[in-house]
Amino acid sequence: MEKYRIIDGLVSLELFAKQLSDFLFEGFVLCLDGDLGAGKTTFTKFLGKYMGIEDTINSPTFTIMKIYDGELPLYHMDVYRLQGVGVDYELEEYIYGDGVTVIEWYHHIEEILPEERLVIEIEIIDALKRKLTIRGTGQYERIVEKLGD
Ligand SMILES: Nc1ncnc2c1ncn2[C@@H]1O[C@H](COP(=O)(O)OP(=O)(O)OP(=O)(O)O)[C@@H](O)[C@H]1O
Ligand SMILES: [Mg+2]
Repeated sequence: MEKYRIIDGLVSLELFAKQLSDFLFEGFVLCLDGDLGAGKTTFTKFLGKYMGIEDTINSPTFTIMKIYDGELPLYHMDVYRLQGVGVDYELEEYIYGDGVTVIEWYHHIEEILPEERLVIEIEIIDALKRKLTIRGTGQYERIVEKLGD
């Protein structure tokens, strides 16, 4: 199941994050794709807000992963730095754990990711506009269906 959505500014991105937050569950895996500055971290910040996270969410580029306390724990990963280095198997404990895992640059750890996942690809159209491609496999298919256009 695949859907497209045009995001016109940060308010529109926040609205989409709010909609998605209704469908989160323990063990949810969200893979984010898109160029530098596409909005992967920005989207994660908005999602965290609707997960009841009060701490400020910052890019985990230098630490690979940051953990936040919310209604469900958030495991926010940015595995950009693992390119050409190899997979960090310690991440598996979180990805297959009881929280919500959001992974920026997920292709670098493809081999440890579950086949069932939600993938959001963010394309930059202009300074404020983004095109999202939303793809769900397995139990995530229904979520994509329900997300609306
Ligand atoms: N509609 C939009 N959606 C997302 N970000 C937007 C939008 N409009 C403007 N922006 C801005 O674009 C920037 C996106 O940066 P962000 O750090 O979220 O990108 P990223 O994909 O995480 O990049 P990186 O690959 O470096 O981690 C932010 O400064 C954000 O305010
Ligand atoms: Mg980022």
